[in-house]
Order: sequence, then C-alpha cells, then structure tokens
Amino acid sequence: MTEPVRYETEGEIALITIDNPPVNALGHAVRQGLVAAIERFEEDDARIAVLLGAGRLFLGGADISEFGKPPQDPWLPEVVNRIEDCTKPVVAAIHGAALGGGLEVALGCHYRVALPGTKLGLPEVTLGILPGAGGTQRTPRLTGMAKALEMITSGVPIGPDDALASGLIDRIGDGDAPSAGIAFATDLLSDGAERRPVGALPRPTADAEAVAATEATLEKRARGLVAPQHAMRAVIAASEHDLEAGLAEERRLFNELMETPQREGLIHAFFLERKVSQLPEIDGVSPREVGHVGVIGGGTMGAGIATAALLSGLRVTLIERDTAAADKARATIEKNLAGAVKRGKLAEDKRDEILSDAFATGTDHAALSDADLAIEAVFESMEVKREVFEALDAVMKPGAILATNTSYLDVNEIAAATKRPADVIGLHFFSPAHVMKLLEVVVADQTAADVTATAFALAKRLRKIAVRAGVCDGFIGNRMLSHYRGAADRLVLMGASPFQIDRALTEFGFAMGPFAVADLAGLDIGFMTRERKAATRDRRDVVPTWADELYHLGRLGQKTGRGYYIYEDGARGGTPDPEVETLIAKAREDAGITPREVTDDEIVRRYMAAMVNEGARVVGEGIARRPLDVDAVKLFGYGFPRYRGGPMKWADMQGLDGLLGDIRAWEANDPFFWAPAPLLETLVSDNRNFDSLNDRA
Ligand code: 3HC
Ligand code: NAI
Repeated sequence: MTEPVRYETEGEIALITIDNPPVNALGHAVRQGLVAAIERFEEDDARIAVLLGAGRLFLGGADISEFGKPPQDPWLPEVVNRIEDCTKPVVAAIHGAALGGGLEVALGCHYRVALPGTKLGLPEVTLGILPGAGGTQRTPRLTGMAKALEMITSGVPIGPDDALASGLIDRIGDGDAPSAGIAFATDLLSDGAERRPVGALPRPTADAEAVAATEATLEKRARGLVAPQHAMRAVIAASEHDLEAGLAEERRLFNELMETPQREGLIHAFFLERKVSQLPEIDGVSPREVGHVGVIGGGTMGAGIATAALLSGLRVTLIERDTAAADKARATIEKNLAGAVKRGKLAEDKRDEILSDAFATGTDHAALSDADLAIEAVFESMEVKREVFEALDAVMKPGAILATNTSYLDVNEIAAATKRPADVIGLHFFSPAHVMKLLEVVVADQTAADVTATAFALAKRLRKIAVRAGVCDGFIGNRMLSHYRGAADRLVLMGASPFQIDRALTEFGFAMGPFAVADLAGLDIGFMTRERKAATRDRRDVVPTWADELYHLGRLGQKTGRGYYIYEDGARGGTPDPEVETLIAKAREDAGITPREVTDDEIVRRYMAAMVNEGARVVGEGIARRPLDVDAVKLFGYGFPRYRGGPMKWADMQGLDGLLGDIRAWEANDPFFWAPAPLLETLVSDNRNFDSLNDRA
C-alpha cells in the first residue's frame, strides 16, 4: 500500500501530497499523515510547503463512511488548526475539486491557488450536516457574510473565477496542480511573504440583510430541512464571536446534526446513488457501443427520451405513425432544447448543430437499420407493442438492442415477439424523461448481460440513475405505487379527505400528495389502469368510484382545469373542489361506511406501511435486488423526501417490529390488503433490518 500522505522536497519547497484514492477522503490515516507531514516540514529546511491531492481531484472531504463510528484522533478540525498554526507558510494547490473538509483543509492553509475548472464548495448540508472543521468560521472571514451564507446553506460549489472574486482563493494557476503550486510558492518566497492564517483575520461584519435573504431562501427551498438552518446559525456565530468561540459553536451545532435522522437519511441517499449500479451480473461485462438511438413514438415520453439522448450527444431517429405526429414530436423536442438553451445548459450553436446533424424524424422503421438501440414509447397496449417489436426485429441490425418504455406490461411477452429475446430489455423512463433522474432497467428472463450493462452505461451517459428491476406488473416503482395508492383510497373511505391526505404527506416531505399527482398525470391514466386490471382485480383492491365518476364527468385534472382540485386559468396549484367531497360521501354511503376522524399521523403511518410492505415483497421476490434499490426508485422517480433516505431506510429508522405490529393490527379488518410481506416477518423474527440486506451481492 502506498503512503496516504507523501512528503518530498524540491529545493526550498516541501510538497505534501495526499494520496487516498478514489477521492482523497480525509480518513484517519490521512489525518495522521497530514499532522506528521506538517511536523516534519517545521523541522526541516524547506521554507514553504505546497499541499496537493493526487489523482483527479484535490480533496473530496471528510470520509463519510466514518460518520456514526467512534471518532479517532486527530479530528479534522484539529488537523486544520495544526496546518494554520504551522510556523512556516503552507499553500494549497487545488485541482478538480476541494469539497467539504477538503476546502476546510485549504482554508487552514495560508494561501490558495486553484486550476481552471475546479469546484470549490461546502456541500455538507446536502448530507444533513454543516462544515465542521472551521468552514463556517473561516469562509466568511475571507468572503464576507453574504457569500459564505450562500455557499454554506446551499451546498452548491463555485468555480475559481467566483472564488477569486470573493477572496476564497488568491490565484488561478496554470498547468497541473504541482506546477501551479510550486510557481505560487516560488513567487511568495521571492516576495518574502509570510504566514497568513485565515483564523487571525478580523471577524466578518454582521450582515442583517444577507441573513434575512438567506432565511427567505431557506423557507422556500429547504422546507423541513434542519441542516441549512443550523449552518446559517454557525455562520452568523462567526460575526458574533472570536475564532475560538465561533469554532466551539460550530462544533456544538455540528454534533447536534450528527445525531439527526435527516443526517442518516441523506448519507444513505449519497451512498445508494453510487451503489445501485454495482451489480455482480454486469461486473466486468463490456457494454455494447451506442451512438445512434431510435425512438418509436414521439408522445409525452418519446419526445422526452429523444431530448435526453440528444442532449447527451447521441444521434436520434424518431419514428411516428404519420408525418403530422412526427412534426408534432419534432416541435416538442425543439421546445425542450430551447428550454435547455434558455437555462444555459446548451449553447445556441450546439442546439442548431444537434437539430441539423444529429436528429431525424420519419415514419418508416427502415430508418433504424443502422441504429444501435431502439427505445419504444408507443401506446401502452400489448398488441401495439408486439407489432412494433416485430417490425423492429425485421429491420434492425444484428447486435442492436430493442428496449421498451412500458410502464406495466410484461417485457418477456414483448421480447417473445422477436427472434432475439436476449437483445430485449425494459428501459422505463419517468416523465418528463429529459428531467427525471430515474431509469428502471427491466431485465427480462432472457436479457443478455451485456444488454443490461449497456443500459447502465446509457443511464450514466444520460446522467440518470439506473436501478435494476425484474419483470412484474409495474416493476418496482409503479407496482409499489398501485399498492400505496390503494392505502390512500382506503383512507378516503375511512373518513380522510384527499386534501387532508395530500397535506399530511407533503408535511411528511413528499413533493406532492397522491391526489395532486393524479391531477397532474391526468385522471384518465388511473381510470385506464383500473380498467386494464379489472379482470384480475382481487379483494385487495378498493375501487375508488369517486375517481371513476370524476373521469366520466371529464374532470381529468390539471389539463381540464378540474380534477380533485380546481385550477383557475391554467394555474399549477389548485384549490380543493368541494364537489369531490360530495362524490366521496356518496361512495362511503354506498359501501355502508360511517366516516371517522383520521389523524395526519395515521395517514402517514398507513400510507408508509403500505409502501414498505409492498417494498418488502418486491425485494423478497427478487424484483428489486436490495432494499436500497427500492429506496433509489422512490427517491429519484417518485418525489420521496431525500432526507428520509427512502421508504426502506425510513422503515429501519422507525423500527420494523412496530411497523409490523401496525400491519398485523390492521390486517384483522382488511386481511387481503394488509397481509404482512413474508420478508418483513422474517426480518422482525431474526431481529434484523432492511439495511442488513444491502450489502448482499
Ligand atoms: N467519503 C467517503 N467516500 C467517498 C467520499 C467521501 N467524502 N466521496 C466520494 N466517496 C466514494 C464514493 O462513495 C464512491 O465509492 P464507490 O466507488 O465505492 O461507490 C467513490 O468515492 C467515488 O465517488 P464518485 O462516484 O462520487 O466519484 P466522482 O468522481 O463522480 O465524484 C466527488 C467525486 C465530486 C468528490 C463526489 O464523490 C462527491 O461529491 N463526494 C462527496 C463530497 C462531499 O460531500 N464532501 C463533504 C464530506 S462531509 C465533510 O467533509 C464534513 C466536514 O465538514 C467535517
Ligand atoms: P403518448 O400517447 O403521449 O404517446 C404515444 C405516441 O406513440 C403517440 O405520439 C403515438 O402517435 C405514437 N404511436 C402509437 N403507435 C405507434 C406506432 N405503431 N409507431 C410509431 N408511433 C406510434 O403516450 P406516452 O405517455 O408517451 O406513453 C408511451 C409509453 O410510455 C407507454 O407505454 C406508457 O405506459 C409509457 N410511460 C408513460 C409515462 C408517462 O408518464 N406518460 C411514464 C413512463 C412510461
């Protein structure tokens, strides 16, 4: 093993290099090595030190995997203080990224140079904590309160130009980090520059205006989150106290955050985002080349998928039923790309180039003869899909992949329409497909491993999070959704209004409640799904007759201005429609139910228990490989609050025995819906949690 911290000298300059792949996280060995290197530098003849990170970036921050374990000396704040107290000047030479504790180490240095393209940031709030190694005290001493508050409460990193302008760094360097660091150190030596500890700078001037602006932003963007509020208080402390007292306040607030479930949920989310793509079945398997993608069907989904593919540099041919539909799809895609230009995500000339060189529409499948991958997004009908797959099979080259974006249908049956079922896979995008992060990769019985590997590689290229799912009605996400929507409909029959349910669940942290979502998607979608499932309906299904009636009344939600809510003049937010309550009262009466008071707490408990119970079935049946795959689907496709880590993580944090106890109690009155998942029962009787299954291969 190489040393995590190397010490070398070049003439009068000491080079201290942190080498802890993959991101030079500041784990215990690195912290020890850094202190030892500073001590050695103080003792030898070098006059100035340059601190560097080996590999692709400077420092990725504290080692997040150590959180929650007993702390080991030296702590990061002590290491930063030790660097700042070094008797000779230390320069940080930053490339790639200096994040969190990584930037705090740089702030402990006396000078900072960064290369172009570097990201400098304090993203701790995104992990439910705050910069705990002096970042909240040293940053505002360099940048002033407004900039520090913005950086630290948002967690969004800045680039070197911004960092230079705000005083966070002293210089933008050229070449690689060692040469930029050595050049700066040489200039400092020749100028006779001395140590310049940031902590010795006067405390920043209080800025009531910046604090008020931050409060307003957090109110809007960080509802329910504890960390940004704590982070704000820590920065304010910098303007109120000397360094030592400010650091103590930072530590106190940091320690409080370490104990919160939000911290646990957010760190779970950080790791699962990376773990979802670690699949033994594709480990070491090379993906197939994908340069040209065919999209069949250019409606809501097809147009979004084509936009996503074009934005990531792929060539796209879109096939529609007729020229009018193809032109409509083209217009939607042009609008999507114009939106990307407007938001600064795409240069105007690049957009023109995409539209003229990389994008074509047509009505003949033959145009896909040289495509590497076709993604079908036609109507949700097995008959139509089978026809399309037969046609694709006839024209596509050997080795090309045929994918379906079906929401519910059997991918094995679709694959059977071709002579190459090994090349068929489900790629289930979410609407709007050029925005939503989730991609469910539905692996059918005969799907080849390199086809699955290609799907994961494609997701990465599209900057999406791919989750492996097995074949069943609705895969992971929609199958679970059907179930917990059933819990919401049961709550309505019991006595809760859709509006109370939406409110309770948005209070819990969901981006939207299920009835507002239904209005957004269109009440026709739910109606069609119920129709499709009517033949196989079992006693677990409550039929929301009020929703059927809304459908028959033509109240399809936002698109018709009225659904559960009334939308004035195309407004996105609606007001509760009192007539819905009348329809529901009638449904209760027809079912012989006397409504009762339902608390918000009961709403959350039942809705979440239904979600977790079905999630446990999905894992138990192998449709999802691990509980974390379920968490990823809900976090990135269904607006589940990230700070709760996902439903399975939430369940672990609640305690599975209590959850199972609730389910068993409700089972007495509603045995089909509330039958406990066998996996949940096994885990409780073994005294284990869902997380114990996350490390399995
Ligand atoms: N600690 C431990 N592991 C880390 C880590 C960290 N700070 N940052 C990344 N990793 C791990 C990832 O889990 C991943 O592991 P895997 O290969 O086993 O899945 C591996 O390093 C590579 O990470 P990425 O796939 O994310 O690599 P990228 O090149 O895409 O991105 C990065 C690099 C921008 C540094 C990104 O990893 C990142 O954003 N990391 C987190 C940065 C951060 O939040 N730092 C603050 C930490 S908290 C802190 O410093 C507290 C302090 O104030 C006291
Ligand atoms: P849509 O109705 O908006 O679009 C379907 C398009 O397919 C239409 O433009 C139609 O002209 C075209 N089409 C139909 N038959 C065709 C054929 N034989 N050849 C070429 N084009 C044909 O439907 P939407 O919402 O885009 O759904 C498409 C698929 O995506 C469905 O399977 C649906 O279940 C799935 N899906 C839908 C989501 C959504 O939120 N709308 C989310 C995820 C998946």
